[in-house]
Amino acid sequence: TKRFGAVRALGGVTLDFPAGQVTALMGENGAGKSTLLKILTGDHQPTEGHVVLDGERVDLASPAQARAAGIRIIPQEPEIIPHVSVAENVYAGSL
Ligand SMILES: Nc1ncnc2c1ncn2[C@@H]1O[C@H](COP(=O)(O)OP(=O)(O)OP(=O)(O)O)[C@@H](O)[C@H]1O
Ligand SMILES: [Mg+2]
Repeated sequence: TKRFGAVRALGGVTLDFPAGQVTALMGENGAGKSTLLKILTGDHQPTEGHVVLDGERVDLASPAQARAAGIRIIPQEPEIIPHVSVAENVYAGSL
């Protein structure tokens, strides 16, 4: 769950990202997709709930901690780096 003041951006969301699979997260504008990802990247802290990675509860209190846990996000346009590879986008900031 994530609240921004009176706005409830996420309400009791639970989902798994199984290893070795591509998972598509879809929803209408304002559904909470970016908010969920920002929790996984340590940009936001959940109001309630937690993240489990490889069976261990992880503290994603900052973007640096999320990166150290191996979590990377490629933002949507226009924030991608168009002239480099997908892999280089994934590891931007670590090269
Ligand atoms: N920093 C913030 N402060 C207040 N409300 C916010 C904030 N960030 C997101 N919200 C609100 O939380 C809800 C979810 O927004 P979010 O951006 O996560 O949706 P989204 O699924 O990524 O939408 P889109 O498809 O438009 O990118 C919306 O009602 C949005 O207005
Ligand atoms: Mg979004």
